[in-house]
Amino acid sequence: MHLYPTSLVLLYAVTTSLGAWTPLRPLVRRDNNTFLDCLEQAGLDPVVEGATTYANDSKPFNLRFNYKPAAIVYPKNSTAVSAAVRCGAQNGVKVNARSGGHSYAAYALGGEDGHLTVSLDNLRHLSVNGSTNTATIGAGNRLGDVALYLWDNGKRAMAHGTCPYVGIGGHAGQGGFGLPSRAWGLFADQVTSIEIVTADGAILNASTTENTDLFWAAMGAGSNFGIITEFTTVTHDALDSVAFAYTFTNYTAEEASNGLLAWQKFANDPENPLDANLGLQLHIDPDSSAPSGVSFSVSGSYYEAKVNATMAALLADLGTPDKTMTQTQRWIASVLYLADIQNGSHALNTTTAPDERDHFYATSTFVSEQEPLGKPSTDALMQYFYGPGTNTTVGWFIIFDLYGGAKSAIKNVGADFNSFDARDALYSIQYYGSYSNSTISDADAITFIQGMKAALEDNQPNTTFKEYANYIDSTYSAEVAHQKYYPTHTERLTKLKDQYDPDRVFHNPQDF
Ligand SMILES: Cc1cc2nc3c(=O)[nH]c(=O)nc-3n(C[C@H](O)[C@H](O)[C@H](O)COP(=O)(O)OP(=O)(O)OC[C@H]3O[C@@H](n4cnc5c(N)ncnc54)[C@H](O)[C@@H]3O)c2cc1C
Ligand SMILES: *[C@@H]1O[C@H](CO)[C@@H](O)[C@H](O)[C@H]1NC(C)=O
Ligand SMILES: *[C@@H]1O[C@H](CO)[C@@H](O)[C@H](O)[C@H]1NC(C)=O
Ligand SMILES: *[C@@H]1O[C@H](CO)[C@@H](O)[C@H](O)[C@H]1NC(C)=O
Ligand SMILES: *[C@@H]1O[C@H](CO)[C@@H](O)[C@H](O)[C@H]1NC(C)=O
Ligand SMILES: *[C@@H]1O[C@H](CO)[C@@H](O)[C@H](O)[C@H]1NC(C)=O
Ligand SMILES: *[C@@H]1O[C@H](CO)[C@@H](O)[C@H](O)[C@H]1NC(C)=O
Ligand SMILES: *[C@@H]1O[C@H](CO)[C@@H](O)[C@H](O)[C@H]1NC(C)=O
Ligand SMILES: *[C@@H]1O[C@H](CO)[C@@H](O)[C@H](O)[C@H]1NC(C)=O
Ligand SMILES: *[C@@H]1O[C@H](CO)[C@@H](O)[C@H](O)[C@H]1NC(C)=O
Ligand SMILES: *[C@@H]1O[C@H](CO)[C@@H](O)[C@H](O)[C@H]1NC(C)=O
Ligand SMILES: *[C@@H]1O[C@H](CO)[C@@H](O)[C@H](O)[C@H]1NC(C)=O
Ligand SMILES: *[C@@H]1O[C@H](CO)[C@@H](O)[C@H](O)[C@H]1NC(C)=O
Repeated sequence: MHLYPTSLVLLYAVTTSLGAWTPLRPLVRRDNNTFLDCLEQAGLDPVVEGATTYANDSKPFNLRFNYKPAAIVYPKNSTAVSAAVRCGAQNGVKVNARSGGHSYAAYALGGEDGHLTVSLDNLRHLSVNGSTNTATIGAGNRLGDVALYLWDNGKRAMAHGTCPYVGIGGHAGQGGFGLPSRAWGLFADQVTSIEIVTADGAILNASTTENTDLFWAAMGAGSNFGIITEFTTVTHDALDSVAFAYTFTNYTAEEASNGLLAWQKFANDPENPLDANLGLQLHIDPDSSAPSGVSFSVSGSYYEAKVNATMAALLADLGTPDKTMTQTQRWIASVLYLADIQNGSHALNTTTAPDERDHFYATSTFVSEQEPLGKPSTDALMQYFYGPGTNTTVGWFIIFDLYGGAKSAIKNVGADFNSFDARDALYSIQYYGSYSNSTISDADAITFIQGMKAALEDNQPNTTFKEYANYIDSTYSAEVAHQKYYPTHTERLTKLKDQYDPDRVFHNPQDF
């Protein structure tokens, strides 16, 4: 039950045929209540501005944004999701789904004021079919809950990202990368069917055999085509692995540039194609305890018996690490380790404590197999990190995630498997900057982070870089976003948007 301020509450009464005033249940009267009454009549109990929980319910993960939704609803089933979509469509109110609410641009709130946010928090059902090993996952689940449930129910697993609080809805909708993705694919690639509510309120199933276009579009450009209420996915045997990290704390920018070139060559060396079970990253972070002020760390996960021999080829070029870490882990321990949880697997259950929020800007680059970075580009990037990067109040971090290589499942499903549009990626780069806007303005912090990507791109002018929609850049227009996230799929996606949502009921500033 959501509480409304008394100023908005009037006791609503009607004159019955007997001529007497009969008090009905207290309804909320508003200036123009067609839309809100529609939601209430569907049993949706909308949270509106002025309600005691409104501020918390409308607070996004990224505190840089402060959008004011017209209403937030918490449907308990897909019929109620459908009713909410119809209320929005009939009253000209734009609609957005919220799964985990971790969009970097707060797009679950629409990316502007006045939208209806359909929060899927109550759609948290989970099951595994023991004979097919498929999972059914309500769209309100978070990654931590999914990992924990699959482990607890038959030691099953999926490839997914590291933050336990990230929602399945956005993660799967826009791709979804984790260290096992080179073996098992992106989260979206592991989905075999969805239940989705379209702009007309229809509740459809979509898969590679039913509503196939819709399924293709929703797995990759998922926030544009409807509200996914349920995912059916494959699962995998949860494997033990070894986590490793080799950290260099006293590189010069020149050594770090050569280190990145060595990492890039190792990542896609035709003489030594990497096993799909190797998950590989490179982290670059400011580090005041490092002599150089920056830590350069190659990490990942692999089979215990193979890790030292495999990584020796790269370490021959990188030199002797200042720190080496290897830790053999059961599957669930690796999930906890990547989430940086020291507190036992119960902490993966996101219903036990709320997440922390952040004030930040982030953006990304995909480096393709065909056009790897050249030395001018890696030099400029490292000069930025080891120069201005050591003298800023922006708390930045950079993650390089290996996607490709000849044996990668991400690559080998083919360019048009679903609408995710970077099957040619060798690796992604995420540039993330967290800051207090009492210390540095949003504009200056954003310029600082964008300077990293500019250093890379300006020094490789003939390459057009794609980017990753799950690291959505809040500064892009729709046109730029389509070029970066869906360069070869924009035409087909726009046609499908016209077909499934001609009135743009589902809308954010970057939709089709
Ligand atoms: C701390 C952190 C760590 C991360 N780590 C990784 C990582 O390791 N790998 C990786 O790939 N990504 C990672 N991400 C990015 C993450 O995948 C995206 O932010 C993701 O889109 C968040 O999903 P959400 O459901 O929580 O967000 P939301 O804000 O709820 O949704 C994001 C977008 O998807 C739409 N949407 C949500 N649910 C649905 C639905 N059911 N149907 C249709 N549209 C929907 C929303 O309207 C919005 O446009 C990370 C993010 C954070 C904050
Ligand atoms: C705020 O909202 C979150 C969900 O978005 C919920 O988990 C939390 O309990 C709420 N906090 C309060 C104080 O209502
Ligand atoms: C900092 O950001 C918050 C949230 O966006 C905003 O309300 C506040 O006005 C900003 N403060 C400054 C000094 O810019
Ligand atoms: C569906 O959820 C709505 C509210 O979210 C509720 O009013 C309705 O009774 C539910 N229907 C079923 C069949 O559970
Ligand atoms: C009330 O809403 C309707 C339809 O949503 C709109 O046409 C009308 O102008 C609104 N009236 C006022 C007073 O805002
Ligand atoms: C599991 O899947 C099989 C094969 O599709 C099906 O026959 C069975 O009914 C399913 N079990 C449950 C509990 O849904
Ligand atoms: C999380 O905890 C709640 C409350 O104890 C429980 O109902 C739910 O099943 C747990 N979820 C998982 C995935 O273990
Ligand atoms: C969707 O699939 C489910 C489960 O197989 C089924 O119960 C439901 O009727 C299907 N819905 C439609 C609209 O076909
Ligand atoms: C770091 O490297 C510099 C040379 O680049 C060297 O002079 C210095 O001793 C090194 N510091 C440590 C702690 O290794
Ligand atoms: C791999 O190397 C580390 C030290 O670098 C060592 O501690 C570990 O035992 C080695 N693992 C195997 C399986 O040889
Ligand atoms: C560990 O998790 C429990 C339950 O979620 C929580 O109450 C406790 O504060 C956590 N402890 C630490 C040290 O984070
Ligand atoms: C560090 O940044 C401050 C403020 O931007 C600037 O005044 C100073 O010159 C910089 N120091 C170096 C060594 O670049
Ligand atoms: C970029 O392409 C143009 C035209 O193909 C060529 O003249 C130029 O040398 C290229 N620049 C670089 C840096 O490769």
